Amino acid sequence: MMSRFRFDMLVILLVVFVCIQHSRSDLIISKLDRRIDLTSQFVRLTSSFKVDNTGPDPVSEVYFTFPEHQANNLALLVAVSTEGRGKQRVSATNLPVEVKQPNGSPPSLIWYAASLPKELGKGESLNVDAFAVFTHSLRPFPEQITQAEQQLFVYQDSAHFTSPYNVKVQSLTVQLPSENVESYTKLEKTKFSGSEIKYGPYENVPALSHSPVIIHFPSNKQFAIAKELVKEIEVSHWGNVQVTEHYNIIHGGAQSVGEFSRLDFQARPNVRGASAFRNLVALLPPKAHSIYYRDAIGNISTSNIHGDSVKTLFEIEPRYPMFGGWKTSFTIGYSLPLQDYLFQSEGARFLNITLGSLLYDVLVENLTLKVVLPEGSRDISASVPFPVKQSQETKFSHLDIAGRPTVVIEKINVVPEHNQYIQVYYKFNSISLLTEPLMLIFGFFTLFVACIIYMHADLTISKSSVSYLAKLQWDEVQGTIQQIQDIINQCLQIHDKLEASLRELSRTGNVQACKAVRKSADGLLKDLSKDLKPLLALLQSSPQAAHILHKVEDLVAKERDLQEKIMLKHTTVVDCYEKKSMGRDAENRVASIQQKISALKQEVDDLLEFVDDI
Ligand SMILES: *[C@@H]1O[C@H](CO)[C@@H](O)[C@H](O)[C@H]1NC(C)=O
Ligand SMILES: *[C@@H]1O[C@H](CO)[C@@H](O)[C@H](O)[C@H]1NC(C)=O
Repeated sequence: MMSRFRFDMLVILLVVFVCIQHSRSDLIISKLDRRIDLTSQFVRLTSSFKVDNTGPDPVSEVYFTFPEHQANNLALLVAVSTEGRGKQRVSATNLPVEVKQPNGSPPSLIWYAASLPKELGKGESLNVDAFAVFTHSLRPFPEQITQAEQQLFVYQDSAHFTSPYNVKVQSLTVQLPSENVESYTKLEKTKFSGSEIKYGPYENVPALSHSPVIIHFPSNKQFAIAKELVKEIEVSHWGNVQVTEHYNIIHGGAQSVGEFSRLDFQARPNVRGASAFRNLVALLPPKAHSIYYRDAIGNISTSNIHGDSVKTLFEIEPRYPMFGGWKTSFTIGYSLPLQDYLFQSEGARFLNITLGSLLYDVLVENLTLKVVLPEGSRDISASVPFPVKQSQETKFSHLDIAGRPTVVIEKINVVPEHNQYIQVYYKFNSISLLTEPLMLIFGFFTLFVACIIYMHADLTISKSSVSYLAKLQWDEVQGTIQQIQDIINQCLQIHDKLEASLRELSRTGNVQACKAVRKSADGLLKDLSKDLKPLLALLQSSPQAAHILHKVEDLVAKERDLQEKIMLKHTTVVDCYEKKSMGRDAENRVASIQQKISALKQEVDDLLEFVDDI
């Protein structure tokens, strides 16, 4: 009843509107044939008409109108103008179509303007073919059925074309999926035969007239709706296009209620499960290979592939039959040879590939297409023959540095007719192609070099080799230097003792004790100096020590210097104590010696540290 009410409202609005519009256009439609195809979940409308310009002014646009509830579900509208008549129709020109709402038109009617290739002059006429696809236009009634029940749908339209022009002669044919019909609106000149209902011909129907028809019919066609499809196309310049399609599918027909019996279903699937679909068919290109089909659980092997030279039929069977409202998610993937899809033009490359789902007769409510280009691609653009939402992102996979530029195309309500070729253009420097292999080559090269070095390191273990001898010699040099360092450190400790004895002297005045310390120090230092000689000689004779020798010699010389100065200081101070007088000039002398001692100490420390680092 609601829909009847809506139609009545529409008729009233239209009647008002006829008056506005009638004076505006001098076009009339002399002959109109409409055909509505209800044999799938889509509603496909084909209109062929001839339009005459009866007014004085040339006309550049032809309007189509659809009631709002239909326009909301309009997925595709194309208009073509044809020249010639009947079988002689030769050239067809695509007419650009856009929504163009005239001032004062009620929102319940949506206007589409098709621009003519050339103006239609006074008295001229033109043939136009229009094709429209509507989605979500078949309403299940009843909305819920059991496993064993038939699925029925209601379709509403008008027996008169809601054209903005007067129509001289028009007719409508509705094609049903089978010869069965539950009910249909019977108007004058209504004929039901075979699986077709024919309305008309009706003569001299005024513009925007509306004559509602409702058709209630059974259909067990596949009502598969992809709530979401994410299709990823990855281009590899190494010769492959990898396509992955993730589907989220629901049976969009009448809701299935009550218990499901697989036993019943298997025994008599055509009766106990007529509304269900058991498989989906994908129409893949002939050269598709590496085809797979999997869901969350894993690979599904119940799929069949039949191929010939024109196409590959990929039949996929979900794990359970799909009844109304049931859902399934799965992924299919396949590879295509690059040379069939990638071409060159004017310095750019372009990928020429189809946009939509390859599943037969599936509506895709939300399509996201991602074209992943090789790393290093630039100046990217996509050409799509109808409006879509476009953006770009970057995808990373192994070995990528900057990531792969990705074109993202989004579209809602994608019907099979949208499965057209799109082109993704980009520029690519062939050198970039080598980046990843070069990285690999460099990586392996480094690995090999590392292996060689490691093997060589290993070889030094073999005692006969030259490098083994060299290693032994170097070990010896290091050992010698270590011994020299020890001796120098012992000397430094003796210096400290001498200094300490002087401090003790200034505290106690005990000259004898101080002299005893000095005597033992002299003896010790002499011994150490003796020990040092052969070590130095060894270093001087070893070629391995050449680069370090002068530093060691320097160290020894500085230490000897330091030793002398400390002795000098010691002697001077002890002398003064023995004479019991410390004159100004003795004080000055000691201070100057002390300065040299400090400087030498610093140098010896630095040299020791340096030698220690060898
Ligand atoms: C699924 O099948 C594909 C293609 O045949 C194969 O590459 C993949 O390894 C399989 N995965 C599992 C989990 O069996
Ligand atoms: C894309 O490929 C199709 C099918 O091979 C072809 O008809 C069409 O002309 C190609 N488009 C371009 C721009 O090359």
